Amino acid sequence: MANKGTYYITTPIYYPSSNLHIGHTYCTVMADAMARFKRLSGYDVRFLTGTDEHGQKIQTIAEEKGVTPQAYVDEVVAGIKDLWKTMEISYDDFIRTTEDRHIKRVQDLFMKMYEKGDIYKGEYEGMYCTPCESFWTESQLVDGKCPDCGRPVQKAQEEAYFFKLSKYADALLDLFENTPEFLQPDTRRNEMIAFVKQGLEDLCISRSTFDWGIPVPINEKHVMYVWLDALSNYITALGWPDEPELYEKYWPVNVHLVGKEIVRFHTIIWPAMLMSAELPLPKQVLGHGWLLLEGGKMSKSKGNVVDPVKLIERYGIDALKYFLLREYTFGQDGIFTNEVMLKRMNYDLANDLGNLVSRTVSMIEKYNGGFVPDLTDAVEEVDEDLKNIAVGAAAKVEANMDEFKFNMALEEIWVLVRRANKYIDETMPWVLAKDEATKARLDNVLHNLAEAIRIISVLIYPFMHTTSDKIRKQLGLWYADVAWEDALTFEMMSGEQVKKGDAIFPRLDIEKELEELEAMQGGNKEEENIPLELKDEIEYDTFDAIDFRVGTILQAEKHPKADKLLVFQVKMGTEKRQIISGVAEHFKPEECVGRKVLVVANLKPRKLRGLESKGMIMFAEETVDGKEVLKFVTPEAEDGNPVA
Ligand code: ME8
Ligand code: MG
Repeated sequence: MANKGTYYITTPIYYPSSNLHIGHTYCTVMADAMARFKRLSGYDVRFLTGTDEHGQKIQTIAEEKGVTPQAYVDEVVAGIKDLWKTMEISYDDFIRTTEDRHIKRVQDLFMKMYEKGDIYKGEYEGMYCTPCESFWTESQLVDGKCPDCGRPVQKAQEEAYFFKLSKYADALLDLFENTPEFLQPDTRRNEMIAFVKQGLEDLCISRSTFDWGIPVPINEKHVMYVWLDALSNYITALGWPDEPELYEKYWPVNVHLVGKEIVRFHTIIWPAMLMSAELPLPKQVLGHGWLLLEGGKMSKSKGNVVDPVKLIERYGIDALKYFLLREYTFGQDGIFTNEVMLKRMNYDLANDLGNLVSRTVSMIEKYNGGFVPDLTDAVEEVDEDLKNIAVGAAAKVEANMDEFKFNMALEEIWVLVRRANKYIDETMPWVLAKDEATKARLDNVLHNLAEAIRIISVLIYPFMHTTSDKIRKQLGLWYADVAWEDALTFEMMSGEQVKKGDAIFPRLDIEKELEELEAMQGGNKEEENIPLELKDEIEYDTFDAIDFRVGTILQAEKHPKADKLLVFQVKMGTEKRQIISGVAEHFKPEECVGRKVLVVANLKPRKLRGLESKGMIMFAEETVDGKEVLKFVTPEAEDGNPVA
């Protein structure tokens, strides 16, 4: 096959803070399918994945476990590599940010940016979200919480190095406006344009409060703040700058595939870093949606993650990969449920594909001694229809893959699978087999079915290579490697000896599987006692300084100048006062009146869009169907009373 050039694709490098779940698997499976598809269609592919191993969070976890951070990540990373091995992920390189090759090259990058005059020492004060390892400005917070994960943030202040991100605002706007393919869809690109226009702050790129990181080359008291360390993996893994062979071959990257929550890092910070180092920019960053559970986002700390290893043990790699790629629409969030998964496996795989193969192979065994018959002149119109759909499918798969529409690519293949099944029903080979006079017609029908299945075996290869191999063995095609261009022709088979094997996908008893999966997944939750992700520990005095009081809401109305705010009049014993909360999206004013609430009564007053707010009402946050929902925290005591 003609060499179409190079194709470099990456996944995020995952945090080895604990084992990976089905969400990470989803991203890696997509990247793998794309890498395999591109290889099969003639590209020289490089597929990179890896782990992002530094930072405060990992240091803390390791300390809690009483091991060194290195020992901790070594163990988790071994598990991650095992998972990818089990899933037959075809990465060409796995980069760990704790490897020497990465460390020294990140330092080179730092120096390059420093020598450019883009790094300076300053004083950092900001709000820090430990789980996300992100600093935020007040204006970026949503209801005072981390805009990415919704968790509380803490004020943090320290001497730090800064990258002059603001210097690159115009160049970034140029990039977004003149190179639309860099970031798609347009809605996401417009979000980034708005983000840059609202004003970029310089980026804190070093920390001195923990030491699990890559030392800043010009100041040993500092380690690099994780995003500089993490993002640069995409070039350090290629040997930039000291062993540039791979770098020169594969950079700039064709696609950085990332979850939607880190698109901003990849489309603002990363290009700005590259501009500073005077290196070419990625061709494209693609953000995919999240897999959610019915109860909300999957989260290690909630203990509600779906473990891919258990699903593979039960259903096999290909069934799981097929489900992930077929069920969800790229770029959108999707809900993971056992039932949807089991139905896909049963209907599409066991029924449609499995039956097609087993019926065809059985009929060739029964009616033609196990050999694929040659074509005869007993041609009918239905043959043309099957043939057209079969040889036309590859182009449709390619068109969809070009846009990362994995589900549509698979749907196109299944149009052919279903057409071939229908062809069996229409031609009724078992009737043709009864009469020697229709043998020539029977031969054509069996031949065409074999050709259609052969084409299917090529088309599914990037998504399910093991299944493809199994089908090809049954069809007697074991002697030939899969080649994409073979999907374009319908006249290849002649006299292959077929061999029936086990069902390629066994039929599942959905009711029974549902029960067992539930027992298994429920069982996990009971066994594990997973510590919550909490803010930093506080001193008793800090706690004691807060004056909590019981209050009653007397009045509630919308803030005249801010859609998200409600203005409450709250009675606390003898005192009535005004408190404003960012809860208008969660409650109607009338449903708040009369409610008892818990108030932080000695919080410094502040003005919110012109109105004074004195104190803070406490609400509980719950995640329902992937959305954050606020609930009242209701005290039983009379208003005015202290709470301790
Ligand atoms: O963010 N649904 O690592 P991370 C879909 N180290 N995809 C999901 C998912 C879900 N529920 N949960 C995770 C980091 N992902 C950084 C990245 S890159 C230079 C540094 C996938 O372990 C998704 O691709 O939190 C997301 O972007 C990635 O895992 C985040 O993995
Ligand atoms: Mg993350």
